[in-house]
Amino acid sequence: MSPLISWMILLLSTELVSGICPPFSGSFFVEQQDLYPESADWDPNNCILYLGSLFNCSIVAYSPYNKTSEIIIIPGTSHPGSDNFTEYHLNGIEYNLNTGHILATVSSAQSFVSVIAPGPDNTIVVDYSHANYTGPNHLIVYDPKAKRLIADLNLDVAQEEFRAITGNLTNGFQDVAAVDTTGDSYIVGTFGNSIVKLARDTNVPHLWFSPTNYTREYGFGGIAALGEKLIVSDAVSGGFVTFDARDDDPQPTYVELQGLPANYRPLNADGVYSPKRYNGKVVLWSDDYNGTSVYGSDDNWASAHFIGLIANDDPGRIQGAMTTACFEINDRVYVLNQIFQFSLPVKPRKNFPMYDVTWQLDAMVAESFLANSTGP
Ligand SMILES: *[C@@H]1O[C@H](CO)[C@@H](O)[C@H](O)[C@H]1NC(C)=O
Ligand SMILES: *[C@@H]1O[C@H](CO)[C@@H](O)[C@H](O)[C@H]1NC(C)=O
Ligand SMILES: *[C@@H]1O[C@H](CO)[C@@H](O)[C@H](O)[C@H]1NC(C)=O
Ligand SMILES: *[C@@H]1O[C@H](CO)[C@@H](O)[C@H](O)[C@H]1NC(C)=O
Ligand SMILES: *[C@@H]1O[C@H](CO)[C@@H](O)[C@H](O)[C@H]1NC(C)=O
Ligand SMILES: *[C@@H]1O[C@H](CO)[C@@H](O)[C@H](O)[C@H]1NC(C)=O
Ligand SMILES: *[C@@H]1O[C@H](CO)[C@@H](O)[C@H](O)[C@H]1NC(C)=O
Ligand SMILES: *[C@@H]1O[C@H](CO)[C@@H](O)[C@H](O)[C@H]1NC(C)=O
Repeated sequence: MSPLISWMILLLSTELVSGICPPFSGSFFVEQQDLYPESADWDPNNCILYLGSLFNCSIVAYSPYNKTSEIIIIPGTSHPGSDNFTEYHLNGIEYNLNTGHILATVSSAQSFVSVIAPGPDNTIVVDYSHANYTGPNHLIVYDPKAKRLIADLNLDVAQEEFRAITGNLTNGFQDVAAVDTTGDSYIVGTFGNSIVKLARDTNVPHLWFSPTNYTREYGFGGIAALGEKLIVSDAVSGGFVTFDARDDDPQPTYVELQGLPANYRPLNADGVYSPKRYNGKVVLWSDDYNGTSVYGSDDNWASAHFIGLIANDDPGRIQGAMTTACFEINDRVYVLNQIFQFSLPVKPRKNFPMYDVTWQLDAMVAESFLANSTGP
């Protein structure tokens, strides 16, 4: 390749990575009363970070540059987090690059009812056997530019389709992935391992995938789109499951995690994320209990290899901070830890830390088998 062409490619990729937003880096706090975010996503068109407030069910549009935030209230769904009973939890946030809309999953709080108990060797055991598999759920579609609610959809139709096919129930809708090329979005149902699809410009989310073997366990937790490939974390099979988003009759491919250390196995996830800087070769599994579990693939996820664990050493961990999501601001990669509140009303809190883990990740990837096939 001529030096000129490689120069042009370098310029082009720098352009793609940095986009139109001013540079930003470093860990920071979002100061917003009772935000308690479980998920966040970056809008590279308007340079805004959207965060979902778990207990209030509001969406916060935050500018990391001037540290101001705007609370977006969804009528009938958002409520003050200080309520003793919150009917809904806002779990997943995705900025759909294709449509410019924000997608938010608002799940029945009852669907994640759990009992926490100490397990062996300082572990904790979260027992979801009391999870409620019915319950009202919403999928919110919001246009941040026009400041307009596009749709407040419910997932009853998809839940009924699941029941008709499997004879069982599904619930616990959380992470969302939007496919850039089509604008279609996909939501995982954690209990029952379902995937619900909202096709672009439609208003009824339909069941897209249901598994042949039903279990009531905590399964699909996070989903990310790599082009038209969907990659899902599955705590039931203990690995990833991939799909082709173009399929009408989707077939799951179970991908084992290779090279896991003897003392580690990723468990429940609330999110899965693939940072742009590694061109789809790195996927982060936000493992609630242990932190950000890093995987790589050099064969488009026919195989997945453990690269490392960015441990959750958030000082808030002793207050119950669990790693629930990763997001990017431009080309910097951030980890978000949710401080779950197991009794209501929530403890008043104003500071929510976001950890810049870019250097840590780059170092891990540089020392991994991917060293010669990818780079920031
Ligand atoms: C902060 O930045 C956002 C996004 O650019 C902008 O909409 C907002 O007006 C700014 N607020 C202040 C106080 O400058
Ligand atoms: C959550 O609700 C509390 C109580 O009304 C309010 O003070 C706070 O600003 C709200 N925060 C968000 C992010 O909606
Ligand atoms: C809400 O909880 C607080 C603290 O436990 C309690 O004092 C209050 O009575 C409760 N309010 C309602 C309406 O249940
Ligand atoms: C995972 O977290 C548990 C505590 O919750 C700890 O005992 C264990 O050592 C951690 N595993 C790794 C590989 O860090
Ligand atoms: C489950 O949730 C539904 C809807 O919110 C409610 O009607 C039902 O009573 C709940 N079931 C149990 C066992 O709590
Ligand atoms: C799923 O539904 C089938 C058919 O109704 C039933 O036999 C089975 O027990 C259910 N499985 C679970 C785990 O609830
Ligand atoms: C489903 O269960 C059958 C019978 O136990 C088993 O042979 C098959 O491998 C299972 N499929 C998956 C995807 O786990
Ligand atoms: C990368 O390639 C070089 C040259 O072939 C080799 O020496 C090195 O071990 C490779 N690094 C990794 C991490 O595979």
